[in-house]
This record gives sequence, structure tokens and C-alpha cells, in this order.
Amino acid sequence: MKNDQKNINTIINHLKNSGFVFQSSEIYGGLANTWDYGPLGILLINNIKKEWWKNFIIKEKNNIGIDSKILLNPNVWKASGHLSNFSDLLIENKINNKRYRADHIYEEITNKLAAELTQEELEKWIIENVKEYDNSKTDWANIKKFNLMFKTNQGVIEDKKNEIYLRPETAQGIFINFNNVQRSMRLKLPFGIGQIGKSFRNEITPGNFIFRTREFEQMELEFFVYPHQDEEFYNYYVAKSKNFLLSLGLKEESIRLRVHDKEELAHYSKGTTDIEFLFSFGWGELMGIANRTDFDLTSHNKLANEKLRYFDQEKQEWIIPYVIEPSIGVDRLLLAIIVDSYQEEQINDESRIVMQLKYELCPYKVCVLPLVKKHSESAKEIFDMLIDHDIMATYDEVGSIGKRYRRQDSIGTYWCITYDYDSINDHSVTIRHRDTMKQDRIKIEDIISYIQNNK
Ligand code: GAP
Repeated sequence: MKNDQKNINTIINHLKNSGFVFQSSEIYGGLANTWDYGPLGILLINNIKKEWWKNFIIKEKNNIGIDSKILLNPNVWKASGHLSNFSDLLIENKINNKRYRADHIYEEITNKLAAELTQEELEKWIIENVKEYDNSKTDWANIKKFNLMFKTNQGVIEDKKNEIYLRPETAQGIFINFNNVQRSMRLKLPFGIGQIGKSFRNEITPGNFIFRTREFEQMELEFFVYPHQDEEFYNYYVAKSKNFLLSLGLKEESIRLRVHDKEELAHYSKGTTDIEFLFSFGWGELMGIANRTDFDLTSHNKLANEKLRYFDQEKQEWIIPYVIEPSIGVDRLLLAIIVDSYQEEQINDESRIVMQLKYELCPYKVCVLPLVKKHSESAKEIFDMLIDHDIMATYDEVGSIGKRYRRQDSIGTYWCITYDYDSINDHSVTIRHRDTMKQDRIKIEDIISYIQNNK
């Protein structure tokens, strides 16, 4: 089934009913476009983050991680350009009192990039051409710039002096710690600093389930290089990022690379490649790899008390490194993984939902099932053994064996182990693979090695 044919509402219902994602604040009617992760969702999220950390930090020997704060000194956002530049163009239809992103309207109707127009040209185009939109006649107000940062106050008094912002990207927490990290870890260029954490954007038009939300999580690496190395590592991280996504099970035909036109580049970028994914609503940005040059370190150096820079031992001079940044949202990646792994299959007269997740991502690697309830004690011993070996497992004794298999297939459990009538005599169990549904008979003492050797 192609992604555009998959019914996203069916998938959302499945995710809700099986404990992956819930509407947030549901008992109060919800809060628009906010979603909570349930018990299976958080297991999948943690596995995704673990894979990113393994690939971008542990396996890249020059890279290390940090964890900086969501609330930072407001001067960080002044220097980074977020206070002046991090805004979307908002246009209001006075007839239905709804606000829209002007660029989205233009791009949706023309299939061209709005970045090619000035703000005035965009406004004129919409007013002259869009007489009906979103099932309503239109009477457009002028375009306004809307800053996407969430503002709050630190301390008890609410005034201008103590205004602070929730970070809109994790990257700046890395830049401002450049000296601390480089000195404490005695790092030599090129090296990377990564982190995973929450970011907040007051998006004008959030939506498409967890694709665009106001609170989300990012996994970002800032890779610092000598200026002349920027192209080499930009290309390296574009290729690495694509391979990372494929290694998580995304299909080759579901992703494509899109290089940004000059007009489209963010204020800090010399070059950006988006890795787009074919979501149910069409192609959308999943990951971005940007050449941020020395923009951020230089900008902080104009405002901060300390200079962020690197001493080049060979040339005996201070330099400002360039930065290559691969950045991806955890929530978007989770959505892409689910869309590509969710299958509805017809087997003889029966249908089954199966989430064909790669072993490392499965919320549960194994489910232990006693064929009948009287086997439960022995089956629970196997369950305990798996947990003791740090294998994420679950246990299910409710319903027919067929139904229990289906339930586990639908949440992506890789193996099902059934303890049956013969197990007591042959000290063996049946182990069933999720995708092939092939079953093997193995000795209980061999379960751990079987699982470890057949991932
Ligand atoms: N530090 C660079 C940066 O933040 P970005 O393209 O704005 O660049 C990076 O964001 C990634 O963060 C995106 O590719 C996307 O995966 C994720 N992301 C951005 N805005 C998001 C939102 N409102 N909801 C969910 N994920 C988002």
C-alpha cells in the first residue's frame, strides 16, 4: 500500500486504541494539536532516540552529547536572529476570522515557492487571486509578521525586563556552550556536539497529527569544522542522514532529497538539504541538513561577554569554525516510521494489522503466551528470564492464541513465545516470527541466544 493511500485516520485510531498516542487533555475536550505518548509510544520514542544517539554520537568518535536548558538568557535569541527573523507571514480572512500562513496558501494553489516573492508581492497575489479559501468567501487583511517564539516571564513580576522565551530549537544551547565543551573535553576540529530535547514554536497552522505541533522534540547535531571543510562534511552528513533513515526501516521510495533554493534558505544558512518523506498529505520535511557557516558563533561573539572561538595550533591563530547541522524532529520521525511500517494484510479469510518495525525499534521484542491459563506460572518464569536479560518483553494470557498473536503483530512485537502442553516434557517452546509468522520449536535454555542471533 502506498503512503498516500493509507488512511491516516485508521492509523491514528489504531495508535490510540493500542496505547501509542492519545489526544492530550482529552477529558477537557483536548488542547488543539497536542498529543500525549502512551505506554507503547514512549517505548518507541525512547528506541528512536537511542538509535539516533548511537548513530550520531557514539559511532561518530569525534562527537559528544550535552543537555542544555529550554529557558536561556534572552540575549541568546537576540544574537541568533530568532527575535527579529523567526517569524511566519500571517494573513487573516475577516469573513471567517481565521488566520493562515500566507506562504502555505500561495504554495498550495500555485505549486511554486512563496520564498520567490516579497511580502508585498505575496499579499497582493493573495488579495487579487484568492477569492474563496477554506470553504469561505474571503476579505483579506494585510499580512502581518508573527514571531513563533513562546514568551513567558521569569520570576514573580510580569514586565518587559523579565521576559524570556521557550527555545524554538535546541541548537542555540549547543552554540553557547561551545567553549565549555571544547575546553573541558579537549576537542580538536572537526568535532560535533549533539543533543535531544524539547522545542516550542507557536505555529500558526499546526496540524497533520504529530507532523506539526507547538511542542515537539528535536535531535540536533552541530558539527564544527575548519571553514574549508564545510562542503566535505555537509555532503557527508546529507548521505549519513539518508542512510540513518533507511536503517530505521523507512522505504527508499518514501524519502527524497530536496535542496533549498537561495531565496528559501533560513537566515543562518549557506546551503540546506531537506530529506522529505511521503506522508499521507504529501511530501513533507522530515529532516534538514544545513551549512550554518560561522553565523551563530559570530553572532554570539557580537553580544556575549566571552568569545566563542577555536585556537588553531598549526597556524597559531584563533578561528571561528563553520557548522554543519543535521536536525530532525523525534515526533515527525515516529510518524514516518509508523506510516511506513503499518500494514494491513489478508491471510486466507482473515485480515491482520502488522507493524513491521525493525527489531531495535519494537516497543516489545517478545511476548510470552501460555497456551492455556494453567501454564501461566511456567510462562511467567520465561517472561522473568527475558526481563533479567534486559530484553523488553510483555506477557499476555487473555483471549484465544490467534487473537493474542494478532494483538502483538499490530503493535510490532517481534517474537511471540508460546508455552504449550508439550513444553513441560520437552522443555521447549514455540517461537513465532511477526513478519513471516514462521514458527520454530526451541529449548527454553536456548531462548536468549536464539533471540540475540536472529534479530
Ligand atoms: N536547528 C535547526 C532547525 O530547528 P528546522 O528545520 O526548523 O531547523 C528541524 O527544524 C526539524 O525539527 C524539522 O526537520 C522537523 O523534523 C522538526 N520540526 C520543526 N518544527 C516542528 C514542529 N512544529 N512540529 C514537529 N516537528 C518539527
